[in-house]
Amino acid sequence: MQFFIDTADIEEIRDLAATAMVDGVTTNPSLIAKSGADFKTLLAQICEVVSGPVSAEVTALDAETMLAEAAALTPIAANICIKVPLTWEGLKATRALSDKGHMVNVTLCFSANQALLAAKAGARYISPFVGRLDDIGINGMDLIADIRRIYDNYPALTTEILVASVRSPEHIHDAALIGADVATLPPAVLRSLAAHPLTDKGLAAFLSDWQKTGQSIK
Ligand code: E4P
Repeated sequence: MQFFIDTADIEEIRDLAATAMVDGVTTNPSLIAKSGADFKTLLAQICEVVSGPVSAEVTALDAETMLAEAAALTPIAANICIKVPLTWEGLKATRALSDKGHMVNVTLCFSANQALLAAKAGARYISPFVGRLDDIGINGMDLIADIRRIYDNYPALTTEILVASVRSPEHIHDAALIGADVATLPPAVLRSLAAHPLTDKGLAAFLSDWQKTGQSIK
């Protein structure tokens, strides 16, 4: 399973990239606004740090303008992945961009039928938003399981499932069991994957016992 990080904070990206756990980055207009950075400058900085796909979202609503925006974003780096919304216009843009060999991440997916359309349009990634479904009382992970099953029914569909709107370590555990290809994690969730209270307790006990030996390793 690949891990992308869901942030536009360049310092967080640099720090986590050093762990070699970061296979890519996803941004969205809200994350860019929160960063306060210039969009294209920031994308260039992220692409210098991370060699995997870096999602850059278009903001137009019609396919023609989406393609014009994509044309302004793709020259930034070879690993730019154009992110488009799951609308008919977005699907048209997806077809055109994937036919030209560009990676496309189709975002704001909330149903299995939407995921099927994105795959037929040639998307490299489909981003189902599990947390936002959970927020309205619908189990987001059921959607991941449905998409996995549908895509596996049709081997010609090569779109990868990119679990988005991740809120907890449980989302990652469940997505990995289902066989999602990628998850995009907020930095805090990625860090929390390494934490376990029994690890902390066990380490404290080992260090305490080690001190009693009076020894030093180096
Ligand atoms: C991913 O591509 C999305 O930008 C992101 O996961 C949305 O997460 P949120 O629902 O926590 O805003």
